[in-house]
Amino acid sequence: MQFEIFTGSPAQTLADCLVIGVHESGTLSAAGKGVDRQSGGKLSKFLKSGDFPGRLGETLLLPALPRMKASRLLLVGQGKTAVTRKTWRKALHAAVAALARTKCRSAVVALSRPASSEFDDYLFSRSAAEITHAALYCVNDLKSGKRPSAPELTRIKFGAERFSSAAAARRGLRHGDASGNGATLMRNLANLPGNVCTPNYLADQARQLGGRYKTVKVRVLDESEIRAEKMGCFLSVTAGSEQPPRFIVMEYKSPRAPRAPIVLVGKGITFDTGGISLKDPAAMDEMKFDMSGAAAVIGAMSVVAELQLSLNLVGLVPTCENMPSGRATKPGDIVTSAAGLTVEILNTDAEGRLILSDALHYARRYKPQTVIDLATLTGACVIALGHHHTGVMANDDALARELVASGVRADDLAWHLPCTEEYAEQLKSNFADLANVAGRDGGALTAAAFLAKFTEGLRWAHMDIAGSAYVGGAAKGSTGRPIALLTDFLIRRAAR
Ligand code: BES
Ligand code: MN
Ligand code: ZN
Repeated sequence: MQFEIFTGSPAQTLADCLVIGVHESGTLSAAGKGVDRQSGGKLSKFLKSGDFPGRLGETLLLPALPRMKASRLLLVGQGKTAVTRKTWRKALHAAVAALARTKCRSAVVALSRPASSEFDDYLFSRSAAEITHAALYCVNDLKSGKRPSAPELTRIKFGAERFSSAAAARRGLRHGDASGNGATLMRNLANLPGNVCTPNYLADQARQLGGRYKTVKVRVLDESEIRAEKMGCFLSVTAGSEQPPRFIVMEYKSPRAPRAPIVLVGKGITFDTGGISLKDPAAMDEMKFDMSGAAAVIGAMSVVAELQLSLNLVGLVPTCENMPSGRATKPGDIVTSAAGLTVEILNTDAEGRLILSDALHYARRYKPQTVIDLATLTGACVIALGHHHTGVMANDDALARELVASGVRADDLAWHLPCTEEYAEQLKSNFADLANVAGRDGGALTAAAFLAKFTEGLRWAHMDIAGSAYVGGAAKGSTGRPIALLTDFLIRRAAR
């Protein structure tokens, strides 16, 4: 997709389609007013008929009106007159989805935009590009029938009643394009079924990323190398699986950043049956999404490489299946982590924290400035926050606040949850240094408390994306979250 910004009069621009906003009050976006004047009031006369009341997210495609340069006109409902970020996002998403159903190859989008106090030119255009990618996303299903034809749209311009800085707007488009590509990569990986997206498949995808960008070096540890790293917790999770585990190491080096790296760690359980502590059958298929953290880390690496950000970034992905079998780990088994701590595995379904603990220990060798792990870690986080916010827990409040603020800027929300010592008390074991579960109460927080045992002395945050990384139900699929949040965070870290 070619993204451009647009500073002239939209009504005077050549394109296959001009997109304008209509409000419930009957008023038009500024570009719409221009079109109406040119056409001698045809548009406002049509709107008076009441056929298009301007309800938020509704669209209507019309042929061009007199003296209009574009060959079609797409009306988009923008709801009540006050345009907020929320209503604008919804209207833009609907507009792009409607364009994708037409034969239009180029479009000029001139909706009413939120006040600049809500959204500066940079964030406006970054979001516009991200939303375009999301609206054009087609699920990578494995249906055997004829594929619906791909959208023809290849060029989109965002109209600009009020750009104060065209340079900032262009930079936003570039960043949003990369972010959108990263989210698409994440979604495509996470949507694949567990029999296709195996640990080795994820490793191949990481290697492909390394092939695409010479700034990204990729190494993959196999089972014997994982053993050599003494990752006893990780190995206990893969024990019941016929699929070999992989430990993926991706290193992005900017030619201009001699600083300590940021390390991202992603949970890569390609299928979570629960192991011997077998899960209920209901919705178990959704546990193919249990590698969403891994997919987010691969997606974030691609964003940083595409934008050539000036920072050093390491992506670590421990990936395996969690399966029951005669060789599987049993409740009560005790294993030794790479850090040397022994862990009594009381519930084999609490496997995410086990593979993460060894990966977090591995991160120490980089002497990182910051470590962030991403994981569909607990059902308890979904109970606590639902699907709107990612849970953020950290041993550094400033880091948690920074991530939450990035989520606000990116409209990819996160919420700071406690991660204090008290929660670790529930992890006491009679037989090992710690147990891997601590009862139902505060499940998201005790999971973080477990991870905190392995991150002492590091500046670390944990993002529980169990509720935000995918949706179930009729629209089942990966959401691509929290790529937008991470993109904002990493861009700001690079600028600092
Ligand atoms: N992958 C699950 C967490 C999960 C549950 C993600 C539901 C998305 C939706 C994780 O491995 C798990 O099973 N966690 C257990 C932990 C418990 C045994 C302490 C859980 O949340 O039930
Ligand atoms: Mn589990
Ligand atoms: Zn899991």
